[in-house]
Amino acid sequence: MKIVIIGGYGGMGRLFAKLFREEGCDVIVTGRTESKGRKAEKELGVKYMKDNKKASAEGDVVIVTVPIDVTIETIKEVAPCVKKGSLLMDFTSVKTEPCRAMDEFSDNAVNVIGTHPMFGPRVSSLEGQVFILTPIRTTKKWMKWITGFLEKHNARIIVSNPQEHDDMLAVVQGLTHFAYISIGKTLHDLDFDIKRSREFSSPIYELMLDIVGRIIGQDPHLYASIQVQNPRVLDVHKAFFKAAGELSDMVRKRDTERFVEIMSKSAKHFDDVDAAMGRSDKAIASLVSELKQLKKGIGKEVALKHIYSGNVHIGVVKDIDPEFVVIDESGVSRRLKISNITLLDDKERIKHKVEGFGTIKRDFSHIFDKEVDENFIAQLLEEFNEGIIAVKVKDVYAGKQIPGGRKSVCFRVSLVNSDVKITEKEINKFFKRIGGVSR
Ligand SMILES: NC(=O)c1ccc[n+]([C@@H]2O[C@H](COP(=O)([O-])OP(=O)(O)OC[C@H]3O[C@@H](n4cnc5c(N)ncnc54)[C@H](OP(=O)(O)O)[C@@H]3O)[C@@H](O)[C@H]2O)c1
Repeated sequence: MKIVIIGGYGGMGRLFAKLFREEGCDVIVTGRTESKGRKAEKELGVKYMKDNKKASAEGDVVIVTVPIDVTIETIKEVAPCVKKGSLLMDFTSVKTEPCRAMDEFSDNAVNVIGTHPMFGPRVSSLEGQVFILTPIRTTKKWMKWITGFLEKHNARIIVSNPQEHDDMLAVVQGLTHFAYISIGKTLHDLDFDIKRSREFSSPIYELMLDIVGRIIGQDPHLYASIQVQNPRVLDVHKAFFKAAGELSDMVRKRDTERFVEIMSKSAKHFDDVDAAMGRSDKAIASLVSELKQLKKGIGKEVALKHIYSGNVHIGVVKDIDPEFVVIDESGVSRRLKISNITLLDDKERIKHKVEGFGTIKRDFSHIFDKEVDENFIAQLLEEFNEGIIAVKVKDVYAGKQIPGGRKSVCFRVSLVNSDVKITEKEINKFFKRIGGVSR
């Protein structure tokens, strides 16, 4: 299977080039900048071709994934070159025009499936991600191929048509982006002190600010194109302005009754207000719970994973404020931005400690009554302290140096190779408490 990705070293192209290479497909990427293409050849194990037309003629599957504003001209360029029986697809965030162009400019014997991955290139896998298909002209074989690939990666497949897609997306992306970008611009125009406002805020305001920040922090060209290129977006803007205008009018006229009526009507129309409350409560709880846990952890050891670099920092929490946490990492003081880290659970923390420090073996010999079950003691000891990784019974001896009715048991204990002396002390305490006599 040969897959040609037009714009293949860009964000989305690169993500799928990697996935198709992992499937064992031959992948050709094209793009305007030769140096980027050559770099992708080395990094992704793909072949680079500068000429879109020549590349398209070679593919069993040809995927167009270039910036939205050059998508139609690129489809016009490549569609006529796609081989009969092959599959032509695109990843464009709007569907009506690209699908019409793929249909119009390709041979009737070429299969055409429009697609829209509802995620960006930063995702680590397709698991749980929505992938919309708008088939235009296709055999069962190609539908089976693309759905098989997506199912294998546990993506959620939605089959639609270009019109429905653009109608839905005019709200799903068009309205939400527009509203949040408008809030971002309002904060700018008001010269509003966002940092200070967080101190006055409710958790839901913080969550909203983070969503505004997340959206205005994305590629502005893509977001502008999503607004400009969707033919349905302006109708949605119109409805939005009308609603906002009416509400503002009610406020100006101090018409509380009408405001309440409109808000209640909107709530009734809303799919499920209770479920929305529940889900947003969970989101807020998870934001707050991490901070709470860190606060509780002052003086204790934690493992914090940086969400972008993936680096894990293990250290004792020294100080915390709403923005930063300070930990002592093996004598080095480290200040980490809380929004950029996740707190790992104890199991993960120990795993990273083992990876970082390694393990060391120590033997402990104690005398017990003959009836004692040494394997049960080994099990108890393994659970006793987090620095203990594994415990084995190495030897049981009941010879002449051991008083009658007693036996000596040697336990081999694997420990995390950090703070070993403290763990050893704890282990000796453990044996004493269960009646063991040290040899
Ligand atoms: N990013 C997202 O979050 C996202 C999500 C869903 C869908 N999409 C869709 O995916 C498509 C690509 O988006 P992206 O974010 O991956 O964009 P991108 O990172 O800007 O990549 C686009 C690529 O297209 C190349 N290119 C530009 N003009 C070309 C031409 N005439 N022929 C061949 N290659 C050309 C660019 O190469 P140069 O750098 O050399 O110009 C670049 O490598 C868009 O249709 C977008 O709507 C994006």
